[in-house]
Amino acid sequence: MDSYVVFGNPIGHSKSPAIHRLFAEQTGEQLTYTSLLAPLEDFDNCALGFFTSGLGANVTLPFKEDAYRLADRLTERAQRAGAVNLLSKLADGTLLGDNSDGEGLVRDLTINCGVTLKGQRILLLGAGGAVRGVLEPLLEQQPVSLVIANRTVDKAELLAQAFAELGPVAAAGFDWLTEPVDVIINATSASLAGDLPPIASSLIQAGHTVCYDMMYGKEPTPFMQWALEHGAAVALDGFGMLVEQAAVAFEFWRGVRPDTAPVLKTLREQMAAS
Ligand code: ATR
Repeated sequence: MDSYVVFGNPIGHSKSPAIHRLFAEQTGEQLTYTSLLAPLEDFDNCALGFFTSGLGANVTLPFKEDAYRLADRLTERAQRAGAVNLLSKLADGTLLGDNSDGEGLVRDLTINCGVTLKGQRILLLGAGGAVRGVLEPLLEQQPVSLVIANRTVDKAELLAQAFAELGPVAAAGFDWLTEPVDVIINATSASLAGDLPPIASSLIQAGHTVCYDMMYGKEPTPFMQWALEHGAAVALDGFGMLVEQAAVAFEFWRGVRPDTAPVLKTLREQMAAS
């Protein structure tokens, strides 16, 4: 049977197998999708071994840059992102690397959550791989401004320079910012440590500002809690982004787009009950 995997390390808690199995069930596609723990020092051999018979892989932390190097060809957006979360074996046996994280984020925000990005002031927190992967799709939405704020300001500046030709992007330190914005997206890994970036609560316009954390968990993340405490219109987590980037992969592999809404609902219910 056609086989697919998600590579990561650690990988035990990955929701990707559950998402793809629900997609397969819904669309009647015959496939297997499992998780594969790749050794930290040997991603290449592990991936190449899988692709002797496997057809496609999602790639999660910490291998997105390894996958970028391993791919024989890259989509333009993966090239710009410098990272690959989707590897696919093409008919000629070569490996195509793509990055669907940004499309997943934009689809979740705009379609699932009904948030308009065009003409909005967006603040993006962080300047690591997660931010690099979403900058191009966010700028395609034509925000009026996109500020990248990071603890290490130099990294934000480098990213702003690298993407300047795509839209109105600027860099800042967390403590430079006080004026309200329309959308705040947390792409730092601070939530992993139960922490949140030190930004001013005046960035939130009560009842108006949309706050989105790319992380997710059973409970609201510290950033989401902070957002709600300061009157954000809504605080969203990144689970929808995960499901949407999976749908992009599934459609590329199988030629059929799954309906993400029922899958999101089922998995959120399972998460709440676990
Ligand atoms: P990823 O690929 O998930 O983006 P990364 O490349 O290691 O991971 O980047 C992590 C990001 O989270 C960085 O922007 C980092 O800030 P620095 O560049 O200053 O290191 C940010 N980050 C991590 N922990 C943080 C914290 N406690 N407060 C604020 N920012 C934090």
